[in-house]
Amino acid sequence: MDAPVSTGRAIGLGEKSVRGKLVVGNWKMHGSLAQNDALLADLRAGWGAPSGRKLAVCVPFPYLWQAQAALSGSKIAWGAQNVSEHAGGAFTGEVSATMIAEFGCTYAIVGHSERRTLYGESDKAVGAKAVLAMDAGLTPVVCVGETLVDRDLGSTEAVVLRQLEAVLAQLGERVAKAVLAYEPVWAIGTGRNATPEQAQEVHGLLRRRLDAAGADVALLYGGSVKASNAQGLFEMPDIDGGLIGGASLKADEFLAIATA
Ligand code: PGA
Repeated sequence: MDAPVSTGRAIGLGEKSVRGKLVVGNWKMHGSLAQNDALLADLRAGWGAPSGRKLAVCVPFPYLWQAQAALSGSKIAWGAQNVSEHAGGAFTGEVSATMIAEFGCTYAIVGHSERRTLYGESDKAVGAKAVLAMDAGLTPVVCVGETLVDRDLGSTEAVVLRQLEAVLAQLGERVAKAVLAYEPVWAIGTGRNATPEQAQEVHGLLRRRLDAAGADVALLYGGSVKASNAQGLFEMPDIDGGLIGGASLKADEFLAIATA
């Protein structure tokens, strides 16, 4: 059994516990009923829920019921990859946080860089999504991250802090119950992960800002995390786990990351 270590940081849901790791899979627009059945069954069978470790998968909307059916009663949580910035109404094609919550979800990713860049989500909209997710009883996994251009311009700090401030402005003290994911856009799906030191530098910055707000928030790193690089990242003092894209689609790889 893992010995309880250290600093009393949250590992999600705002709970105060021994410092642990949270690993969340982001399936993106991948999967089918048959593929998901196999993946979810393998995850359920393979997840030993070691002490201080939490695992979750964020699936496409039509498969929320399937994740709920496959994972209910297990130690694996599930959630969605987006929520509408509106509570309800005439918004064709949108899915509200309260609808998502009806499927037993724990988490909802908000502000993923693909949503920000491909669908034009503003910082303000991301903040509104985080609020609605929390109002519905979900834990928002709020994503922030700079592009390669931002990084080359030396704007990394300014960009991630701007994105964080927009969420802080709307969530206020409730930010303590959120999860924050730092995902440098240049590292997502590119095979080019940030080094542990590069990631830690930004995580340290985010941690200091959140500490100043009195919020003990789990900080995940995302961007080309694999079983082979997870340990080095997770050993960093301010990295509390990962948001995993491509590698969350293979049960063995995902489970290896979650126990790294
Ligand atoms: P990746 O994606 O692990 O495939 O780089 C991470 C993410 O987009 O959340």
